[in-house]
Amino acid sequence: MRPNIPAATLANLAREHGTPLWCYDAAVIRERIAQLKGSFDVVRFAQKACSNLSILRLMREEGVQVDAVSLGEIERALLAGYSPKGEPAGVVLTCDLLDRGTLARAVELGIEVNVGSIDMLTQLGQASPGHRVWLRINPGFGHGHSQKTNTGGENSKHGIWHSQLGAAMAVIRDYGLVLVGLHMHIGSGVDYSHLEEVCGAMVDAVRELGSDLEAISAGGGLSIPYRDGDPVVDIPRYAELWNQARREVEGIVGHPVRLELEPGRFLVAESGCLLSEVRAAKDVGNNHFVLVDAGFNDLMRPSMYGSFHAMTLLDDTGYPVTAPSRPTVVAGPLCESGDVFTQHDGGLVAPRDLPAAKVGDLLLIHDTGAYGASMSSNYNSRPLLPEVLVDGDDVRLIRRRQTLADLLALEL
Ligand code: LLP
Repeated sequence: MRPNIPAATLANLAREHGTPLWCYDAAVIRERIAQLKGSFDVVRFAQKACSNLSILRLMREEGVQVDAVSLGEIERALLAGYSPKGEPAGVVLTCDLLDRGTLARAVELGIEVNVGSIDMLTQLGQASPGHRVWLRINPGFGHGHSQKTNTGGENSKHGIWHSQLGAAMAVIRDYGLVLVGLHMHIGSGVDYSHLEEVCGAMVDAVRELGSDLEAISAGGGLSIPYRDGDPVVDIPRYAELWNQARREVEGIVGHPVRLELEPGRFLVAESGCLLSEVRAAKDVGNNHFVLVDAGFNDLMRPSMYGSFHAMTLLDDTGYPVTAPSRPTVVAGPLCESGDVFTQHDGGLVAPRDLPAAKVGDLLLIHDTGAYGASMSSNYNSRPLLPEVLVDGDDVRLIRRRQTLADLLALEL
């Protein structure tokens, strides 16, 4: 589902705030939350996908809990009004190592920690005996839309290897830690054709540990259809298989167990688009390049993973450009040949049929609500972009554009 924001509104936003600019449609986020909520006890937003405070507040208002991966994400959650306490906890910290600052803050606030290594478990036990913990399990296999987003198997640094759960339980006992639950996140952008295998691994882990626990978490990873015709995750089937696993787990531990889900992309990807302006068009040998004012420092996914993002071209008044299409390579302003937004299918420059663009047209890059703004950088000394949240008639700037003064302020 592409955002429903009228093209004229987008053109106005580009005029008002300049380009490039991130824009999100709150209605899409609410619809995605509603799709999940009835089937899981807790939907916990993986805020790494899009951590703007206004997005986090929207999640909280809709009854979604939050996951944090760093001290920064913990502080964001608190500022958005989440409480670290409670059952279920408003915030859970999931990581594979605890830097000293994050450890100290997690202990101070009593934040539940989803532990990804035995060293981490020991450090937490030493600092905070009796702390509430989850164990993140690497079941020995994983999947993802790219090798880089596969978080299971022996090439992944994530989680505690499935055969070392006994050792983890020994540390839990040594320090009197409280095991809240088991967690499995095997990758990102997963179609879940092998879902039975994942649920089976969770049930096996509970059986092996034979330990009391309050909850299990299915992790995140749900894919979205970036291309027309991409498979759409069958949420009712997905939820049914996990609920079935939960019932088996309840049979083992002998009491009710909470089922959590931890999606990032599914909740926000389709709500977002990146607005950029066409600043040049040129023929280079056989390739026709259109250069826009957004670069891979803004949207990294195509350069990092070869990801496909649909695009729409509007004229400067917001009407879709109807000029005949031609194979086009869309690139940005950075001093890198990899600064290309059309580099899917294994090609660095994968031309895509787009209407002929002229300087001043607006190029919308779709499905960028997840891992767009949150993965941006200041490479080439380019300031971070503004973000706008459209909620029906309410159109709000939720982050201003970084200034050059902001960018230089840290340097002595
Ligand atoms: N839970 C854990 C422990 C995770 O590591 C992640 C994502 C999620 C949940 C949420 O996954 P999601 O539902 O969004 O797929 N930058 C990549 C994605 C990396 C995801 C890292 N971890 C991308 O742009 O595709």
